[in-house]
Amino acid sequence: MGATGAVGSCFLNILEERKFPIKNLRLLASERSKGKKLKFAGKAYPVEILTHDSFKDIDIVLASAGASRSLEFLPSAVKAGAVCVDNSSAFRMDKNVPLVVPEVNPEKIKENKGIIANPNCSTIQMVVALWPIHKAARIKRIVVTTFQAVSGAGQKKINELWDQSRVFLAKKKVTPVEFPHPIAFNLIPQIDVFLENGYTKEEIKMVNETQKIMGDASIQVNATCVRVPVFYAHSESVNIETEKPISPDEVRKLLSKAEGVTVIDDPENKSYPMPIFAEGKDDTFVGRIRKDESIKNGISMWVVSDNIRKGAALNAIQIAERLIK
Ligand SMILES: NC(=O)c1ccc[n+]([C@@H]2O[C@H](COP(=O)([O-])OP(=O)(O)OC[C@H]3O[C@@H](n4cnc5c(N)ncnc54)[C@H](OP(=O)(O)O)[C@@H]3O)[C@@H](O)[C@H]2O)c1
Repeated sequence: MGATGAVGSCFLNILEERKFPIKNLRLLASERSKGKKLKFAGKAYPVEILTHDSFKDIDIVLASAGASRSLEFLPSAVKAGAVCVDNSSAFRMDKNVPLVVPEVNPEKIKENKGIIANPNCSTIQMVVALWPIHKAARIKRIVVTTFQAVSGAGQKKINELWDQSRVFLAKKKVTPVEFPHPIAFNLIPQIDVFLENGYTKEEIKMVNETQKIMGDASIQVNATCVRVPVFYAHSESVNIETEKPISPDEVRKLLSKAEGVTVIDDPENKSYPMPIFAEGKDDTFVGRIRKDESIKNGISMWVVSDNIRKGAALNAIQIAERLIK
């Protein structure tokens, strides 16, 4: 579901790269994609219009067509016998739906009743980096600021950054269409809508989803989410307070051995993770690991990952791989 979108096209690339065993592939999107064909493993497949009858003889649904489509259509998919891995926010906080990052809580996959939720992109990369530290020293509090790429908001927003950049460089007036303000050569400290408490929905997703995935509602999370003029890969400044003391060297050692994490941390040689480097890669990259000297047990770090891959399509496919094991 959502095969023609930013996440959908990445699904197809990763399924092909990882040789996911597929007998019967059905590509679903909206009326707008009627007549389109998409290539997979050298063969062209027609895009079909998503309906309640789309799921006959389908074992696994990878859903990335937005929350309202997931709410409307996934119950039909479950009824037809499929297990759905849902990229939208529709079911993430539902008590009956596991919210899974395979490096953190893979054991939850087997508790599914037909739907498994894939977390928000900024939450996935943060918990991949923090889980090994939480196991070693128990994280009490997280303060995170995100620098999120435009691809996190879909294909139309990617196009808008291209278009606005050309207009800006031609010294013409930039008129935003998709974003609330110009995004080219600017930052927007708003992702999703504002809630009554002054936080955005994206920021509160990071609080709730982190606690659910890490299985610890006592972890305090404070998030500020910012959209930046980068095409692919989200970056995050992450500060943590732990119960037990842990040194930057210990964190580096733990993360060097952690599944799905690569440490790039050699400031003397100007070596740290950056979005331009993480784009197209599978791992979560961590650097700038240092002691927070303002509190007793504190660590600050910089976390970067490709939001369309680990933040969406790859995480969902890793879940699907475990489902068929
Ligand atoms: N981008 C990310 O980093 C990211 C990360 C995590 C989760 N997600 C989630 O994944 C979902 C898709 O995101 P995206 O970035 O891929 O968005 P996108 O590029 O805008 O793609 C949206 C997809 O949904 C399809 N769609 C929209 N309305 C539909 C309808 N009424 N019926 C059937 N299909 C419909 C579109 O089909 P048409 O082409 O026919 O319009 C397209 O394939 C969203 O729920 C998003 O929150 C995205």
